Amino acid sequence: MSAVVVVGAQWGDEGKGKVIDFLAEQADVVVRHQGGNNAGHTVVVNDQEFKLHLVPSGILYPDTVCVIANGVVIDPKVLLGELDYLTKRGVDVSRLKISSKAHLVMPYHAILDAVNEDRRGDQKIGTTLRGIGPAYMDKAARVGLRVGDLLHPEEFRDRLSRVLKEKNHLLSSAYGAEPFDFDEMYQSFLDYGRALAPYVADTSIIINQAIDRGERVLFEGAQGTMLDIDHGTYPFVTSSHPSAGGAAIGAGVGPTKIDRVYGVAKAYTTRVGDGPFPTELLDEVGHDIRERGHEYGTTTGRPRRVGWLDAVVLRHAVRINGLSGLAVTRLDVLDGIESLKIATAYEYQGERLEEFPDSAWAFRDATPVYETMPGWDESIGMVRRFEDLPENAQRYLRRIEDVVGVPVVLVSVGRERSHTIPLEELF
Ligand code: IMP
Repeated sequence: MSAVVVVGAQWGDEGKGKVIDFLAEQADVVVRHQGGNNAGHTVVVNDQEFKLHLVPSGILYPDTVCVIANGVVIDPKVLLGELDYLTKRGVDVSRLKISSKAHLVMPYHAILDAVNEDRRGDQKIGTTLRGIGPAYMDKAARVGLRVGDLLHPEEFRDRLSRVLKEKNHLLSSAYGAEPFDFDEMYQSFLDYGRALAPYVADTSIIINQAIDRGERVLFEGAQGTMLDIDHGTYPFVTSSHPSAGGAAIGAGVGPTKIDRVYGVAKAYTTRVGDGPFPTELLDEVGHDIRERGHEYGTTTGRPRRVGWLDAVVLRHAVRINGLSGLAVTRLDVLDGIESLKIATAYEYQGERLEEFPDSAWAFRDATPVYETMPGWDESIGMVRRFEDLPENAQRYLRRIEDVVGVPVVLVSVGRERSHTIPLEELF
C-alpha cells in the first residue's frame, strides 16, 4: 500500500494525531492538506507531550518528509512559532516542505472571524477564531495571498497594498475596527517569507514522485467529516474539506493514486462549537466522560460536548469518505460505565431514518434510536491484543462493525504510542 488517507469520522478531535503518529512510523511522507491552526494534535512520545497545530505529526520521526500542502491555510507567525518550539525540543524540522500555493492567514482574517461570529448572534458557529473561515473566503474570492507570494517582495507589496486597502475600509467603515498599518504588515510578512523560504516547494511534485517510487505516503486529515463544508452539518462546519476527497485537491494528487482511507472515531462522540448533536449527554455520564477523557480542546481549551456513539454519523462518514476501516480511539475512557448506548438510527416526525438526514432541520430535530450494551469494569489501558480485551469491550467493537459496515482496524486504549492495538496491517 502506498497512499493512505486518515480522516476524522465525527466532528474532529477523534484522536487522529495518535493514529497518524502510529502510522507515521511506517510512512516516508506525511501530508497535511486542509485546515490550518484551527486543528490541534497532541502526541505523547516517551512521556513527553507535543502539541502540534500545523506541522504534520510525522516530524517526530527522524526520517519522515513532512508536507504542508496547497489546501492548508497557514498563519506564518504560528507556523514559525511551532518550528521554533520543535527545534528547541530537539526535533529536526529540516524535512518540512511547504506548498507555495498554500494561502496565508493574515492578521485581518482573525479580526474578521471574530466580527463575523459576533454578528451571527445566537446563530454563531463557535469557530476557533483563528481566521480560518475568512482566509478560505479570500481564497474563493481570489483575493488571497499565498506562501509563494512572500518570495517575490515587489509583487507581494503590490498585492498586499490592494487587499489591505479593501480590508481596512471594511474594518473601519463597517465594523468600526482599527485599520492595519501597511508598512508594519509588509515588513513582518517579508520577515516571515525569509524564514519560510528554505521550506517552500512545489509539493504536488514531491508527493506524486514519492507515490510513483512506491514510497508510503500518509495524508493526515484535520477536523472531521461532520465539519466538511459540503458534507458536514452546514453551517456549523469549517471552511475546508476534511473528508477524503479533500486530500486529492488539497495535495495535488489524483484520486486514482489513493489506496486506502481510514476513519478515526472515538468510542463515543464529542463536538466543540455550536450546532445540533442528537446523542449529546447533558447528564452525569456526559460529565464523567468529559473529565475522564480530558475532553477540552487542544487549540482553544474549550470543554467539548460529549455524547454516545452515533452510528448514523459513522455510516455517513463511511459513505462520504469510502472508508476502508475504522480506528476506534479512547475505548479506555468508557471503563467502568455500567451500560453503553449506540445510536443505530434516528426518529424524525414518526419515521425511522437509517441514513444521515439530508435536511439540517431534520438533523436538528431528530431523536436517536438507541441500542444498549453492557459495559466492562476492568481497566483496559494495559491491554495490547484484541483478544485480551474484556468480552463486553470486544462485543462493543464488533457491534460497531455491524452497525457501521466496515471493520475496526485499530483500537486505542491510552495516550502513549504503545497504547495501541492494531487489528490488521494498515499500510
Ligand atoms: P473554524 O474552523 O475555526 O472556522 O471553526 C468552525 C467549526 O469547526 C467550529 O465548530 C469549530 O469548533 C470546529 N473546529 C475547527 N477545527 C476543529 C478541530 O480541529 N477540532 C474540532 N473542531 C474544530
